[in-house]
Amino acid sequence: MINMFSNKALRSSYLDLMEKCLLNTIYEDPSLHTGVYEAGVREKGLDCPRTAHTMIGTLRLRNLRNLTETVLSEKVPGDLIETGVWRGGACILMRAVLKAWQCSDRRVWVADSFAGVPPPDIVNYPADHGDVGALHTFKELAIPLEEVQNNFRKYDLLDEQVQFLRGWFRDTLPVAPVTRLALIRLDGDLYESTDVALRSLYSKLSPGGFVIVDDYGAIAACRQAVGDFRAANGIAEAIQDIDGSGVFWRKRR
Ligand SMILES: C[S@@+](CC[C@H](N)C(=O)[O-])C[C@H]1O[C@@H](n2cnc3c(N)ncnc32)[C@H](O)[C@@H]1O
Repeated sequence: MINMFSNKALRSSYLDLMEKCLLNTIYEDPSLHTGVYEAGVREKGLDCPRTAHTMIGTLRLRNLRNLTETVLSEKVPGDLIETGVWRGGACILMRAVLKAWQCSDRRVWVADSFAGVPPPDIVNYPADHGDVGALHTFKELAIPLEEVQNNFRKYDLLDEQVQFLRGWFRDTLPVAPVTRLALIRLDGDLYESTDVALRSLYSKLSPGGFVIVDDYGAIAACRQAVGDFRAANGIAEAIQDIDGSGVFWRKRR
């Protein structure tokens, strides 16, 4: 009993420290755009950090940890995937959770162009006009594959349990060699990126598995893609808010 408790406490301490490193709250990493560090802004993932390995903020990163630990403790079968990874921090956290739980039979799928957001395809996805359609011009969103791999390496977490899917989602996700998923984290911003990921991956999600949508509260096009997919597929599971931007739902068992 004493050993079990201390293992659990150690696991928790490791993951607490991973969160702080991935968000770089320890050294109060400033925003890339304002040059200022604001704890409340970083907590809600409302800025783009200069060097931290994720921009999703403390609350959404903790949600990802909690849901990953839930699928492990409740033995929901399948791998874990994030579509839209930037510097890789959220995927690094998922790999760290697998390590902390000594789980060697699940993989983390890391899907991105590693070249930024695609130009909007307004003909097929008219919702991607306006502000969201300009994201392809944001050079800070284009992080090369080698840099993301190197970020995993810095935490000693780059191994065969991490699989990279490089390219536009429309090309990679429909043919990805993923068979079963326990958790899907969508962070591709656009209607197209959200829609393609849901169409390609949702049928592979195990009952009891989770879908997390990073931009649901922040980007109307993303919210519309989720709403359209849920309506078309009769998905009625309740959407739960994380921090005003991120949401998740759990697939019925
Ligand atoms: C907001 S960032 C993701 C942030 C990341 N989840 C984190 O933890 O900080 C969006 C990412 O989605 C990728 N992306 C968006 N749409 C895409 C698409 N259709 N195909 C491939 N990559 C895409 C971009 O390259 C970028 O890395």
